[in-house]
Amino acid sequence: MTADHLGNPKNAAQFNAQSDNIFGRIASRYDVLCDFFSLGIHRLWKRKVARAIAEQEWTTLLDAAAGTGDVILKIAQLNGFKNHQRVIVSDISPEMLAIAKRRANGLFSNLDFQILDAHNLDEILSNSVDLYSISLGLKICDRHRVFKEAMRVLRPGGRFISLEASNIPWAWVHRLYLGYMQLCMPFIGWLATGGDASAYQYLLKGVQGFPTAEKIAFELTQFGYEKVSFERLTFGIVAIHIAHKPQ
Ligand SMILES: C[S@@+](CC[C@H](N)C(=O)[O-])C[C@H]1O[C@@H](n2cnc3c(N)ncnc32)[C@H](O)[C@@H]1O
Repeated sequence: MTADHLGNPKNAAQFNAQSDNIFGRIASRYDVLCDFFSLGIHRLWKRKVARAIAEQEWTTLLDAAAGTGDVILKIAQLNGFKNHQRVIVSDISPEMLAIAKRRANGLFSNLDFQILDAHNLDEILSNSVDLYSISLGLKICDRHRVFKEAMRVLRPGGRFISLEASNIPWAWVHRLYLGYMQLCMPFIGWLATGGDASAYQYLLKGVQGFPTAEKIAFELTQFGYEKVSFERLTFGIVAIHIAHKPQ
């Protein structure tokens, strides 16, 4: 796992899918847990990121760490897919992906479900993807490896879009929010997961350890992306970043 000069891990949640199959264990409850943890607001965030993706021109979209397919299904509800569009719906967890597949219910011939590690997308050709998206997955991956691998698979001019935990720009409000998370999350998490502590511990660590929206924008430019922009949602609890691979 890479770390910066201060020793902060680039995997904010310090999660390793190989050593803890947490998403396999909670797959059937994942959507309910999202509602619990975010008080339902994740639906708005995902609708927003789905709209951002739907508004772009693309033929091949790769959604990494797609989980139960929420974002992809929201794009489908917004726009449907055009005949020529192909979506690679990918995740490292077969259990999560199986639910995504079931939810899509064979409706979309455009969807191609693949078990892929976002750190290492060996199966995907370089310069072959128009749009790479990742929602709520960066904090549980080594984000620098993800930025690098996304850059490799994107075609020149292709776009990177992420939705992830972020910072409320007023420091004291952000501290209050983190305090609330620290206090309430173990209780809500314990109840919601039937005592499976790791689900909310990763979430908590990921939220606490994830950098500010400005820092993520800076890191993206360091990895060679250009025209980097971001939008904070719900006061900055999460942010959507959009970046372009140079032509
Ligand atoms: C918090 S969920 C987000 C799911 C979905 N994108 C959403 O917004 O609801 C994180 C997902 O990342 C997946 N994941 C974790 N590590 C991964 C990796 N190295 N490569 C691909 N997916 C990974 C997990 O299996 C899980 O489905």
